[in-house]
Amino acid sequence: MAYDVAVLVGSLRNGSFSRAVAENLATLAKDKLALRIVEIGDLPLYNPDLDGDAPPPAPWTRFRNEVSRADAVLFVTPEYNRSIPGLLKNALDVGSRPYGQSVWQGKPTAIVSVSPGLLGAFGANHHLRQPLVFLDMPVMQQPEAYVSKVGDLLDKGGKLTNEDTKGFLSNFLAAFATWIGKHK
Ligand SMILES: Cc1cc2nc3c(=O)[nH]c(=O)nc-3n(C[C@H](O)[C@H](O)[C@H](O)COP(=O)(O)O)c2cc1C
Repeated sequence: MAYDVAVLVGSLRNGSFSRAVAENLATLAKDKLALRIVEIGDLPLYNPDLDGDAPPPAPWTRFRNEVSRADAVLFVTPEYNRSIPGLLKNALDVGSRPYGQSVWQGKPTAIVSVSPGLLGAFGANHHLRQPLVFLDMPVMQQPEAYVSKVGDLLDKGGKLTNEDTKGFLSNFLAAFATWIGKHK
């Protein structure tokens, strides 16, 4: 059976390069991985007051359930101001609470960072590693995936056209499947 992988995309933009890369990854994934995007754009900003006695906001519950049932988590994100988009940090915070009920605990994870620029969103990739370590998620260290100049790699329909990139990402996914098998 394929590992069930929750994919979180760090952009809400129509025509997002990151979402396009995530969708290509889902297509490239072979029989060992089944990738599904878990939406995070509707999550109210995390406020502990809403995790009290009354039921929490419905999107939080939906999100927590969708991540909980996954074997692993893959982040595909752009860089905002040399860090991760607030959208993604909010999703991490929502999933981490109520205290003691984190949905992230022990889930193997990997990061693909995406940028139209040359640096491949290195800053976002590495800032993201900091909360993931704290959240006790085994983060795949190698291979790393910094997708730079992404605008040159996709066609108008958002499909990856560059064979080298497809090969690189396929190898990345194969390594992730091995990583999940070791750490699940
Ligand atoms: C608020 C903001 C900050 C940004 N900061 C960076 C940055 O630090 N590094 C970078 O490579 N690109 C930066 N960008 C440009 C994004 O990489 C670019 O908009 C990219 O297309 C966003 O990803 P998406 O296509 O998945 O939405 C920034 C964009 C925004 C809106």
